[in-house]
Amino acid sequence: MISKVSTATVYGIDGIKIDVEVDISYGLPAFSIVGLPETSVKESKERVRAAIKNSGFEFPNDRITINLAPADVRKEGSSFDLPIAIAVLAAMGVIKEEDVRGYLIAGELSLDGRIKSVRGILPITMLANKEGYRKIIVPLENGREASIVKGIKVYGTSHILDIVHFFKEGDGLKDFASHGGDAGTGARKDGLDFSDIKGQTQAKRALEIAASGGHNILMIGPPGSGKTMLARRIPTILPRLHYEEAIEATKIHSIAGLLMSRGSLLSERPFRAPHHTISDAGLIGGGHVPKPGEVSLAHGGVLFLDEFPEFRRNALDALRQPLEDGHVTISRVTHAITFPARFMLVAAMNPCPCGYFGDTRKACVCSGSQIHRYRSKVSGPLLDRMDIHIEVPPVTIRELSLDREEEPSERIQERVAAARTLQEERFRDRKIYANSQMPVRMVKKYCLPNGDAGSLLEKAVEKFGLSPRAYHRILKVARTIADLEGSSGIEEPHVAEAIQYRVLDKRLTI
Ligand SMILES: Nc1ncnc2c1ncn2[C@@H]1O[C@H](COP(=O)(O)OP(=O)(O)OP(=O)(O)O)[C@@H](O)[C@H]1O
Ligand SMILES: [Mg+2]
Ligand SMILES: [Zn+2]
Repeated sequence: MISKVSTATVYGIDGIKIDVEVDISYGLPAFSIVGLPETSVKESKERVRAAIKNSGFEFPNDRITINLAPADVRKEGSSFDLPIAIAVLAAMGVIKEEDVRGYLIAGELSLDGRIKSVRGILPITMLANKEGYRKIIVPLENGREASIVKGIKVYGTSHILDIVHFFKEGDGLKDFASHGGDAGTGARKDGLDFSDIKGQTQAKRALEIAASGGHNILMIGPPGSGKTMLARRIPTILPRLHYEEAIEATKIHSIAGLLMSRGSLLSERPFRAPHHTISDAGLIGGGHVPKPGEVSLAHGGVLFLDEFPEFRRNALDALRQPLEDGHVTISRVTHAITFPARFMLVAAMNPCPCGYFGDTRKACVCSGSQIHRYRSKVSGPLLDRMDIHIEVPPVTIRELSLDREEEPSERIQERVAAARTLQEERFRDRKIYANSQMPVRMVKKYCLPNGDAGSLLEKAVEKFGLSPRAYHRILKVARTIADLEGSSGIEEPHVAEAIQYRVLDKRLTI
């Protein structure tokens, strides 16, 4: 007898529909899966057999063939267990095949028939909805996540016997009401605020510019000067996520398996701060069943690399592609997968190995060559991609104890949002949101400096030996500074400030 059950898999960040067809016929006992299965799908066979037996059914002693169609789509992951088991039970006549039609089913099985959560339920449910399915059955723990999608009925389940009961009696599964993502108020839960930081006017100004244009920023300063503290507060001044950005970022978190506990759309821009010991796959993405890395989890938000020179050279070099293209490509033997990875890179480092080079409080004990080696760990091409470089000197005890009220994040965010609105109008229908995302041809169109500003920049390029990439990046930052001021033209002070953020590394180089 033949039966068919619908399921889906994830490719990149989107779902693809897969049909599970099961044929049970007389013949020598056999159990095979065809349709390009990866190792994990083959393992699925053993779990399906055990789960069915341990749920009290007699596993057929016949020739069972399972086909996963279409054959030319890569099938990875464990979410095929449940639809395969349901298709086998339908072919066995335990449940009626026509009852299962109209459902899309995904989930992993344990040997005892319990159902375990899977990654990527959000894109899978979005696909089901798009393909016209009105009902989906998912692992209980994925229920809230699936019900982000409106217009499809979500059932959650924790045991295969519950599904059998459901198809026989019509009840027994948990019904999840669609909540459309509960995008929330946008209010932050961590309580961080820029007003926690005393002084640091210059650093705050630079971070406001960076947030306004989505520019990458490097902070250099001695231990305890507040670099980490500043970085952690960047999300509090970034503009709100757009709906499309939120959907994309949430899908990435779903595929990484990080969405289940919250089960809602991301309402805050992500802030990812991986430790410098992170593996390449952890940073960029990869693994047996490709998982998005930190660069993709930071999509739409901030990737913070604290202790920047401590990261391995390979890992830092691998950042170049996402910084340039806004996505990463993970190559496999037979195919490649692309994940979005458009983030604001925020990096922090000390000026030298001991940390106190240039500090007035304590003498630096490093030799010239030690300092040189330390700095050269951050490769030139990567440094070139940092639009804004700033020095973060420690604030004095006097400043720390001053009772002055510091400006709250909310007020800074208002200015950032106003600057972003100008950018959005500029780039309408172009699928980019911020000045930093402009390709060179747009820089030529939108970042034409006025006379004096232009000659100032030319002089700086010559004097500091700036690369063409640095030149374009300075123009983009100048555009953002002008936007913050509400100025349509790029004037001399805008360019002058932007240049000042690029020459720090030149000055510090010895
Ligand atoms: N401007 C400031 N206002 C209030 N507190 C500050 C300020 N600067 C530093 N601090 C205090 O100093 C602590 C250390 O700051 P932070 O960890 O951000 O320094 P850092 O520059 O990252 O140092 P390191 O290079 O060692 O990582 C903070 O937790 C905070 O308590
Ligand atoms: Mg720190
Ligand atoms: Zn030193």
